[in-house]
Amino acid sequence: MSTITLSNGIKMPFIGLGTWQVKDPEEGILAVKSAIQSGYKAIDTAVVYQNEAAVGEGIKQSGVDREELFITTKVYNDYQGYEETHQSFKESLERLQLDYVDLYLIHWPITEKYHETWRAMEEIYESGKAKAIGISNFHPQHIEDLMTTAKIKPMINQIELHPNLNQKELVTYCQEKNIAITAYSPLGHGNLLDNPIIEEIGKAHNKSVAQVILRWDIQNGITAVPKSVNPERIATNIDVFDFELTTEEMTKIDALHTGERVNKNPDIFVINK
Ligand code: A2P
Repeated sequence: MSTITLSNGIKMPFIGLGTWQVKDPEEGILAVKSAIQSGYKAIDTAVVYQNEAAVGEGIKQSGVDREELFITTKVYNDYQGYEETHQSFKESLERLQLDYVDLYLIHWPITEKYHETWRAMEEIYESGKAKAIGISNFHPQHIEDLMTTAKIKPMINQIELHPNLNQKELVTYCQEKNIAITAYSPLGHGNLLDNPIIEEIGKAHNKSVAQVILRWDIQNGITAVPKSVNPERIATNIDVFDFELTTEEMTKIDALHTGERVNKNPDIFVINK
């Protein structure tokens, strides 16, 4: 099973290519092209990554039918609000050279704006231009507040999640509400790749540390968007469907939690207005 079914019936691939910090357009085009050629169906971008145009070009150059792909983008903080979100979405589609996206997310919980942002996103969803809509970096208090005005429940919450920050409580909270989770920075931004405990687990399965971590996500029902611009690493990061971690191995990885983040904590994130 390489896909998860979202609450509205849409299927989302478990592994997608992350593109945060892929700045160079040529590098971006090549990464997207090589991911799609290695069998990726999902690509994750955002306005603030400034690479939607490169992602669009990579998709075009891959030669794969758009309908086979699952493309995610996000509305950034300074574009939140009703009119602004509609405008930002339109510009994202233009940069991506697409008629629709598969998933559209609110990038960060800007409390005074996300209600109006969501109202625009519901309209975009109802128009068919986003096959699913969701949120990113939202904590339970943000979700509960959003739901006081929302007509449609978010289908995804994309959050920082890796063995050092396993987000158990937030994952359980969302999964109980049938909000699926996507892990960003699933490899801890690369910081976890020399972890001896994961390395040892990998040896038992003839798999790399990155592959073990991504398998741990999948077995927890979590989708992930590992970032790489290296074609070989891109290919190995999706080669995670032919082995299974034991319960004991899963528990060992769970125990690596330290609470250490590589990105900002949404609770104390200062808005870039
Ligand atoms: P690169 O793009 O040169 O491959 P995260 O997704 O957690 O933010 O991690 C991304 C970082 O991990 C990047 O620095 C990326 O570098 C590196 N990376 C991604 N996949 C692998 C892999 N399979 N092996 C080693 N490093 C990797």
